[in-house]
Formats: sequence, structure tokens, C-alpha cells
Amino acid sequence: MSGGVEVRVEGLTKSFGMANIWSDVSFTMPKGEINVLLGPSGTGKSVFLKCLIGLLKPEAGSIFIHDIDLVRTSAEKMYEIRKLFGVLFQDGALFGSMNLYDNIAFPLREHTKKSEPEIRRIVAEKMEMVGLAGDEMKLPGEISGGMRKRAGLARALVLDPEIVLFDEPDSGLDPVRTAYLNQLIVDLNEATDATFLIVTHDINTAQTLPDNIGIMYHKHLAMFGPRELLLTSEDPVVAQFLNGRREGPIGMSEEKDASEKAAEQGIRITVPPMKPQLMPSNRRRRAAEDRRLERVMGMLHELPPRAQQAIVDSLADADRQRYGLVGAGAPASGGPAAPSSGRHLLRPPAPPMPPRPPNGGWRGPMSGPPR
Ligand SMILES: Nc1ncnc2c1ncn2[C@@H]1O[C@H](COP(=O)(O)OP(=O)(O)OP(=O)(O)O)[C@@H](O)[C@H]1O
Ligand SMILES: [Mg+2]
Repeated sequence: MSGGVEVRVEGLTKSFGMANIWSDVSFTMPKGEINVLLGPSGTGKSVFLKCLIGLLKPEAGSIFIHDIDLVRTSAEKMYEIRKLFGVLFQDGALFGSMNLYDNIAFPLREHTKKSEPEIRRIVAEKMEMVGLAGDEMKLPGEISGGMRKRAGLARALVLDPEIVLFDEPDSGLDPVRTAYLNQLIVDLNEATDATFLIVTHDINTAQTLPDNIGIMYHKHLAMFGPRELLLTSEDPVVAQFLNGRREGPIGMSEEKDASEKAAEQGIRITVPPMKPQLMPSNRRRRAAEDRRLERVMGMLHELPPRAQQAIVDSLADADRQRYGLVGAGAPASGGPAAPSSGRHLLRPPAPPMPPRPPNGGWRGPMSGPPR
């Protein structure tokens, strides 16, 4: 496995004819981390994934991978870059007339010159990874929705991608299968260190799976940042989305501007305690976790107090010692973390979140520079 790569999106804008889908989307997915993208239906999350892999062309902005701007690169180069991506489409997108073995072998036969014995070895390895060993001869129509998703995932992984995109991997699955799939996703991230971007509507997935969360809302990326930032956020849109409440500015029609202000004024934001993040089932620390810790601790002073506290509360004792946080809201060893005091840690925090500007919104400290 080759490991992941950073994906930097700057000022990306997409319209179909006169209809703008989203504008000025800027954020960076750090190498190897798990990112979740949320947002009401129709806000353009799938369109965003298609722009990333070059199936759709944005009219402005850039997508940088390995310092190549995908929006401006040649068709030949894009063909090569596309091999860095594995994509799990919503329905698995398997060929109905091919058995699982041939479905999963398809990208290898299409994009590589590997011999059949090599292909057999790789397909067997990926089917084992997703728990489908022994199901090679089954047709997609003969297996459950959960198995189809896993077969789609095996196919997405077969070229050892550096970036894996998942469009609603959990749609149509019952809560138990969703839990299994989420565990599988964390385990795959541990095994591959590839960069993951997962579009989901499932709140439990958003609360427990990602390192970073983004929310598409009102034709822009309303916020993107570390999980602790969004899961402790009192921003009405973010809090409503991550806690699945009916009350809030997001209405049935996602463009309810008129009611938004009124709704916002009447809302009392309460944020429930953060759930712990899923760990790999082998209990190993993901390579991305160490890199992320460095990054998040480096930006700690820029985050709101609740996010700072959530990060410190989630640190292992050794990490607390390493960052000189012994006594900063949590005991040095053993016992339970002290209750969140909301007091500031390390350096003074950044000023409160500024009001969201009409064009781009506050995107959090991980966003790229505004353009
Ligand atoms: N090829 C296309 N041509 C024109 N309009 C399109 C095209 N693809 C998508 N759209 C429009 O872009 C908007 C965003 O669609 P998209 O499928 O990305 O939403 P989404 O956020 O993924 O929604 P959901 O959560 O329901 O999957 C929709 O209004 C859709 O009709
Ligand atoms: Mg979609």
C-alpha cells in the first residue's frame, strides 16, 4: 500500500449553466486522515466528489495533489492521476452480469498489465480485507446490500489508491451493518494510510468515524475542521446537523433563507458530550493519528475553548505529558479526565467566530487562504 496524499482545494466553484451549486470551496484534507462531508440533500456533495476525480469540471478554483492542479492539468495527466483515486459509488456500481471476482479484477485488467496470477493474488487480498473471501463466484444480484458495498469497496481498493472517496457508503444499510462498515473503514485506513473522504447522512458515522468534518450548506462549505471543532460547535447549522435535531435553521427546503434568521434567534444551542472516535479493531494507532496530533496541537490556540478542551480530554496520558499539559484540565495519569472547565489552554484562544460572510463562511483553521 502506498499511503495517502494531501488534497488541497482552493476557491473551487461549480455551476451547471446559470445554476450555481457551490462557490469558493477551500479546505485541505491532510494526508491519510479520515474526512467526512455532510450537508442537506442537493447541496452538491456528489458533484464535489465528481469534480475531485475529474468527471465534472469546476469553472473556478484549484485542486492540488502532489502540487499538480487537477483543474488545469492535461487529459493525459488526469488519466494518470485518476489512478490515485478509489471510488465507492453509492450503490457499489458493480456490473450485474459479472461475478464478484471479475468485478473486483476489472480495474486491474483495465488499467494495468498484471498477469492473471498476480490479479488473482490481489483480488484475493482485497476480498479478504473486506470480509468477502469465498464469495468470488457470487453475482451482485445474489448478495445483500451490505455485501455489495463491501465488494464495491474491494474494487475501489484494488489499485492501492492514495485517496478513497465514499459516496454514502452507509445508505440503505441497517444500523448494525453500518457499524460493521464503519469499523471496516477505520481498519482499512489503519492498513492503508490512504486519505479518505466520506459523504454521509448518518449522524453516528459523522460523530464517530472522522478525523475532520466538513458541512456543505447554502452553496458553500460552511465549516471544515477537526472533529472536536465541529462536534463541540454551537453554530446553529453545525449543531443541528451533527445532532440530527428537527429544530434549527435547516428546513425541509434547504434554501429557507427567510426562516433561517428567525429560527436562529429562537434556538438554544445545546451540544451533547462528544462520542469517542472509533479505533481500529487491532487496537493499533493509525499513522494518521500521530501526524494529526502534531497538527491539531499546533493549531490548538486558534480553536474555541470547547474544542480545545475536547482535544485535551481525548489525549492519552503520554501525549499530555509530551505536550506539557499535565494539570491542564485533566489529570496526568490514571483517573478520569477532569470535567470540561471551558478555560483556555496554552496560549490565549483566537477571538470568537466572526459572523459568516455572505460568500464563503467561516471555514475553520484548516481552510486554505480565501481567494
Ligand atoms: N450533470 C448535472 N447536470 C446538471 N445538474 C446537475 C448535474 N449533476 C448534479 N446536478 C445538480 O446539482 C445539485 C447537487 O446535486 P448532488 O447530487 O451533488 O447533491 P447531493 O448533495 O449529493 O445530494 P444527496 O445528499 O441527495 O445525494 C442538484 O440540484 C442536481 O440536480
Ligand atoms: Mg449525493
